[in-house]
Amino acid sequence: MVFKVIRYKKVTSTNDVCQNLASEGAAHGTVVVSEYQEFGRGQRGNTWESEKSKNLTFSILTRPTFLSVVEQFYLSKITALSVTDWISAYIEKNRVKIKWPNDIYVDDKKIAGILIENSFSTQYINTSIIGIGININQDEFSDELPNPTSLKVENGNEIDLELCLAEILECFKGRFAMLEQGQNYDIDKDYLNRIYRKDKYFTYLSGTTKFEAKIVDVEPTGELVLQTKSGEVKRFAFKEIGFVI
Ligand code: BTN
Repeated sequence: MVFKVIRYKKVTSTNDVCQNLASEGAAHGTVVVSEYQEFGRGQRGNTWESEKSKNLTFSILTRPTFLSVVEQFYLSKITALSVTDWISAYIEKNRVKIKWPNDIYVDDKKIAGILIENSFSTQYINTSIIGIGININQDEFSDELPNPTSLKVENGNEIDLELCLAEILECFKGRFAMLEQGQNYDIDKDYLNRIYRKDKYFTYLSGTTKFEAKIVDVEPTGELVLQTKSGEVKRFAFKEIGFVI
């Protein structure tokens, strides 16, 4: 995978710019990075707030046409793993987790978010825009954010954003190569090992029902597999389940 990085001072959303470039035929590996996003987007229709020039907000255009629609969750897995691989070079590995499906946590705080937007041609993926926001040098956050952190908050050091981007892209390249080579078993294993709150009982909320359960697995399609104390196994798609903190 060869990256071509395109830099902007301000965009609406790097995912949108990347999407436009994709429709104009931009190559696999095109990266859009911006110092500021006016309308940064998060999952579940949320916004993504990021202080200007302090953090990384970027999107990678990929064309994983070998991947079928039912395998698309692998893009979430390899992206989340790339970010955790990279952060683990700066913060003790066992503190860096993936909160299913693809939020990146340090202990109990969110340091990075991922928004993947795919397009399809018949049953295969055509383009996948991999949007990544990582809090790097920001040390003050709005009270509205539930539990944010940054690399600087966690390890005290400011880091050069260009260096960070180059390092993260190398991690992504390695994980994407695993996917191309069909190393799904290893990807599954690494992803599951990194899952936040795995194998520990917590209270979950599905609709209006609260129940105690532990995460035991994640299906290849991305569904979360929970087991209750009585041994009952329940599967949930994203949006169907929340933690009760
Ligand atoms: C989330 O945690 O809800 C996902 C956040 C994803 C944010 C990134 S920043 C770069 C890219 N452009 C966007 O508008 N969103 C993603």
